Amino acid sequence: MNEIRKVVAGLPEKAREIIARKTGRDAVLEQVCRLLHDEVPAYDWVGFYLPDPDGRRELVLGPYVGEPTEHIRIPFGRGICGQSADTLKTVLVEDVTSESNYLACSPSVRSEIVVPVLKEGDFVAELDIDSHRYAGIGATDRKILEQICADLSDLF
Ligand code: SME
Repeated sequence: MNEIRKVVAGLPEKAREIIARKTGRDAVLEQVCRLLHDEVPAYDWVGFYLPDPDGRRELVLGPYVGEPTEHIRIPFGRGICGQSADTLKTVLVEDVTSESNYLACSPSVRSEIVVPVLKEGDFVAELDIDSHRYAGIGATDRKILEQICADLSDLF
């Protein structure tokens, strides 16, 4: 296993340590963003979107680490984030230039993953990661990030 694969493989345990500190939902989400952003060079923007608290089928930007984004609210179905909220499935795009239903956060982004957080089958949040590298995020990342999102459901 190369060095970065080892780092990625160790992320769920580190995320569980953050969750166990019980510092409150948004503080945990922010610390998990910081962990992922700081440990993996390919993760250039890491953030969470949460469902609109008033019940509209829209996502609202939550804690994140990276450049500010204009996408503060995203309707379900729109972009990669909206697709994941709509289908309750992970969406992994190794080349965003080939994706027609995509909302550009920064012109530098090349690959992106969005992983839903489900609580007893209900959508409670999603993790969004952008990379400036083509295929900077792949199948191994997906497995690890899905594990972290499964553990995060305890916060909701
Ligand atoms: N690219 C996302 C929008 C959110 S930004 O990446 C932070 C999308 O297509 O939904």
